Amino acid sequence: MNDEISDEIAGTLIAAAREAARHAHAPYSNFAVGAALLMTDGSIVTGTNFENASYGLSLCAETVAAARANAEGRLRDIVAVGIIGGMMRGGVAHGTEPIRPCGRCRQVLNEAAQMGGRDLTVYCAGAEGETYETHRLSELLPHAFGPADLGIGG
Ligand code: THU
Repeated sequence: MNDEISDEIAGTLIAAAREAARHAHAPYSNFAVGAALLMTDGSIVTGTNFENASYGLSLCAETVAAARANAEGRLRDIVAVGIIGGMMRGGVAHGTEPIRPCGRCRQVLNEAAQMGGRDLTVYCAGAEGETYETHRLSELLPHAFGPADLGIGG
C-alpha cells in the first residue's frame, strides 16, 4: 500500500473513530475513546468505550467494535483499525497524544486477526486526530497466543 492510500485510509478511520467517541459512555474516567474497523468490503464498523458503575465491567472501544463486527458475522473481515482518545471537556474529547490499544484490546483484536488470517494495521491518534502513528498488531502484541495455538482459524 503506498503512503497516499495509507494516509487516506488512516484519515477516514480516524474521522470515524472521532465521530464514534462522541457517544462514549465514560462518566467515571471522563476519557472518551473511539475505534473504527476497516472491513474487507470497505465498510467501517465503529465502537466506543462503555463504562459501568461497577468500574471493572467497563468495555473498551476496540473490544466493542470487534464484538460488533462479530455480531454482524464479520469477525474475519477486519483489515485495519483506527483509534482515538482523550479527556473530555465540555462533552468533547481533547488531546493530541496518540493513544494505543490496552493489552486486553490487543488480545481481542488478535482473535479477529488470526481468525481472518491477516495481520492488522493499527492507526493510533489523539482525540483531535491531526497526527497518527501506524503500527502492525503483530508488533503491538508480539508472540501472541491465539486461535492458531488451538488449531483454529487462519
Ligand atoms: N479505553 C479504551 O476504550 N480503549 C483502550 O485501549 C484504553 C482504554 C477506555 C477504558 C476506559 O473507559 C477509559 O478508556 C479510561 O481507561
